[in-house]
Amino acid sequence: MNAIETSGLTKRFERKEDGKKKPFAAVDNVDLAVEEGELFGLLGPNGAGKTTIIKILCTLILPDSGKAFVNGYDVVKEPDKVRASIGWLHGETGGRALYWRLSARDNLRFYASLQNIHPDVAKKRIDALLEFFDMEEDADTLVKDFSTGMKVKVMLARTLLPNPPILLMDEPTVGLDAASAVETRKLLKALSTELGRTILFTSHNMFEVERLCERIAIMNSGKIIAVDTPLKLSEIMREKKAVEVRISETADPKTLGLLQSIEGVGKVIKAEIGEDSSLIQVEVRDEQEAIASIPDFLQGKGYNVISIQRALPTLEDVYMKLTREPA
Ligand SMILES: Nc1ncnc2c1ncn2[C@@H]1O[C@H](COP(=O)(O)OP(=O)(O)O)[C@@H](O)[C@H]1O
Ligand SMILES: [Mg+2]
Repeated sequence: MNAIETSGLTKRFERKEDGKKKPFAAVDNVDLAVEEGELFGLLGPNGAGKTTIIKILCTLILPDSGKAFVNGYDVVKEPDKVRASIGWLHGETGGRALYWRLSARDNLRFYASLQNIHPDVAKKRIDALLEFFDMEEDADTLVKDFSTGMKVKVMLARTLLPNPPILLMDEPTVGLDAASAVETRKLLKALSTELGRTILFTSHNMFEVERLCERIAIMNSGKIIAVDTPLKLSEIMREKKAVEVRISETADPKTLGLLQSIEGVGKVIKAEIGEDSSLIQVEVRDEQEAIASIPDFLQGKGYNVISIQRALPTLEDVYMKLTREPA
């Protein structure tokens, strides 16, 4: 069973166009499957529909059509069971939703009582969470005296109080300073690897998603336009075969011409020319063939080849290309 699964999921809103209200699909026929235990990133620019998907999965809003299952439960027919299966966080990791004049422990106690968790169970969970987040020494300090990073920990602990198997996090690092964002990413990773939680989180920051996630869905204008591992996404998007060669000297037009004179080598894609080394990407007919032939050839002409490998576009290239295409 997938932890999260949607098929044909669609949500329409209205928006004004030329003074008239027109319906549009904020979430447009989305099929998504997140496996149990996965750390999955939903990446897309503002307005892509990420928050709307999270809200449907949290049972905050109803879809217009299609299906969504969380922990095997239908978000429309079994919303209570869905709610019992999830921890949910939305752009509030900075701690605005905490009581600043209460300690970390008292905040957690308060939220546990709101969620009808028996005090004995709550005490055990709170102690375990404070230990997991390495906060035992600060447990009785008022939240107002905490750094942002510490507030993030309390927010995450709060989300984990009912012990949900699935965490839905809408832009958990948005608005955080760089150091707290780094800390938050580490915590998400730990929740995934050490506590085995399934995590679906949204972001418009490609670099965080690329580093953190096992798989990524890229979303634009309500549609999922690609789903895969960060590496596979780069590979799929590569239109031409290419290799990159690093040599230990300044490349000049003659060097580039020499490279292109090799059988099976085509256009120069890019050349970063430095004083004591240069990196050149060239299109090739076959990567293995080029990796075998280029170093010998260049070394025969007196160049020192430091490295040669298949050239992949970065996820940034993929993202920019996909989200720029008209929907
Ligand atoms: N309640 C609403 N009423 C009308 N339009 C909405 C509503 N919620 C979201 N939208 C619109 O739906 C689109 C997707 O929004 P959202 O899911 O918040 O995107 P994201 O989280 O990726 O930035 C946007 O164009 C947004 O303006
Ligand atoms: Mg959003």
